[in-house]
Amino acid sequence: MLLGNLVTDVMIERRFCVAPMMDWTDRHDRVFLRQFSKRALLYTEMVTSAALRHGDANYLLQHDPSEHPVALQLGGSDPDELARAAELGQRGGFDEINLNVGCPSDRVQSGAFGACLMADPPLVASCIASMQRSVDIPVTVKCRIGIDDRDSEVELMHFIETVASEGCQAFIIHARKAFLQGLSPKENRDIPPLDYEKVFAVKRRFPTLDVIINGGITSLESAHELLKRVDGVMLGREAYQNPYILHAVDGVLFGEAVLEKSRTGYLQAYLPYIEAELSRGTPLKHMTRHLLGLFRGEKGGKLYRRHLSEYSRQKDAGINVLLDAVAYVR
Ligand SMILES: Cc1cc2nc3c(=O)[nH]c(=O)nc-3n(C[C@H](O)[C@H](O)[C@H](O)COP(=O)(O)O)c2cc1C
Repeated sequence: MLLGNLVTDVMIERRFCVAPMMDWTDRHDRVFLRQFSKRALLYTEMVTSAALRHGDANYLLQHDPSEHPVALQLGGSDPDELARAAELGQRGGFDEINLNVGCPSDRVQSGAFGACLMADPPLVASCIASMQRSVDIPVTVKCRIGIDDRDSEVELMHFIETVASEGCQAFIIHARKAFLQGLSPKENRDIPPLDYEKVFAVKRRFPTLDVIINGGITSLESAHELLKRVDGVMLGREAYQNPYILHAVDGVLFGEAVLEKSRTGYLQAYLPYIEAELSRGTPLKHMTRHLLGLFRGEKGGKLYRRHLSEYSRQKDAGINVLLDAVAYVR
């Protein structure tokens, strides 16, 4: 570990990743998810390079040592600003820097980054080159299979080839195109049809690249099947809404002998973190909002969820709110 230029010795493995999700995969959620799998690579919510430049970088980059391996996702399109942001990320201890080339929201488009960057492969390539020059950790891209009417396989291959030529070795591909006009970000995650074949084609065409497939994966069985065609899978909504799915990742996808716990067991393992955060003044609801899906489909799960959402919000809510909620599922 170098002081002032913290280089982690974590080996990056992208066989199973949890997606970057704004407002969802914050540091509290990532620590919670880490209870279930040691091997999953966790991504932060997107942080813009402008926010890091003008805002409180220490606050924006804070994370817990238990989160590793953890990748910082950046949003931006200014190569110099992104390079500085990547450097801050590396110094802050992240294991990978990822550039968001997949988000279609208006706010992101008005900043000219996110999915609209797919229309400008040379700019993405120069962002990657600039970031990669400023850090030793890997710089990767998360993109779509296309945007609007620019969704041919030829264009996708051209994008990947151009960006890879500047040193990007890993691409996470959300297997849907994005419509830049007319659909909300949420609709853009559901309405454009999934086309896994295009992602498989990228892997065939560029076999030495690390290709990670994303979009609509809801079971480890399908993840296992997909891993026969690509190098990694990334789960978003399912991992957040049904975090227990992660408990089998290390065993099923990495072949590790793991001692599985009950749902309550994973929660218990997270309690010391909650208590430490409470004592730092973090409101209980900041942690418990990520725990609502833990008992999904279980007897008493609805009561657990209702209790937790109702009472965590109260001023000075303490750990007992969580313990009382768990009593419904015991
Ligand atoms: C609430 C929410 C926030 C998201 N925020 C981001 C983000 O910050 N950066 C990003 O690249 N993708 C973001 N996404 C997209 C996911 O990373 C993922 O690509 C998408 O949900 C498809 O995967 P899934 O079908 O497994 O959910 C977000 C998705 C959701 C549901």
